[in-house]
Amino acid sequence: MFNLILFGPPGSGKGTQSERLIAQYGLKHLSTGDLLRSEIAHQTQLGLEAKAFMDRGELVPDEVVIGMIRSALDANPQAKGFLFDGFPRTQAQSEALDALLAQRNEAINVVLALEVSEEELVKRLLNRGLTSGRSDDTNEEVIRARIVEYHKKTSAVADHYRKFDKVVMIKGEGSIDDIFNALCAEINKRQAA
Ligand code: AP5
Repeated sequence: MFNLILFGPPGSGKGTQSERLIAQYGLKHLSTGDLLRSEIAHQTQLGLEAKAFMDRGELVPDEVVIGMIRSALDANPQAKGFLFDGFPRTQAQSEALDALLAQRNEAINVVLALEVSEEELVKRLLNRGLTSGRSDDTNEEVIRARIVEYHKKTSAVADHYRKFDKVVMIKGEGSIDDIFNALCAEINKRQAA
């Protein structure tokens, strides 16, 4: 098993790179943002509750997303490994993930953290908002609120995994191919070890 967290602020390229990484390494992609948007599309109770938080650029409560990840891990016992995208996003989510993996005699192998300047993030998300249909991309105020939430609550996730020497910073600006190659180099190093 190889378990990877692709980490970074909103718009840093986690979704873009995840698609390529799962194709390259055969990992199961678990994106809490995608799971929540699917709940919204199906108009479930969970989706309706989550939507209000997402539209304000705030994080959805921990117990909701931890429950979704627990179910996804249970539903994929044959997976070669998981790529976590947009999860964990708080200290509590990091601890819950470590415990869920430990129950399966697993652990996070590496956290690859994409670094992108705030102005570039805002530019990318406003641009995506022109076509994505995502309500949290259309308004600069909400985009900036998501970035504030990231600094307030999510940067703690990197601090948590730094204690175990598992975080590698990757420059997230430049061509998508170059960033992908830098991510692969780090994964290959660890898979060969
Ligand atoms: P989520 O869906 O996780 O969104 P996010 O973290 O805000 O990330 P994005 O999908 O916006 O960006 P990304 O890093 O994936 O970048 P992408 O590749 O798309 O979360 C949405 C909401 O759900 C949260 O605000 C929260 O409310 C809730 N939520 C989700 N998970 C949660 C959790 N664990 N706990 C609590 N709440 C949770 O790229 C962005 C754009 O840039 C694209 O248009 C792309 O084409 C472009 N791009 C990518 N790479 C490059 C490049 N190298 N150069 C130029 N453009 C690029």
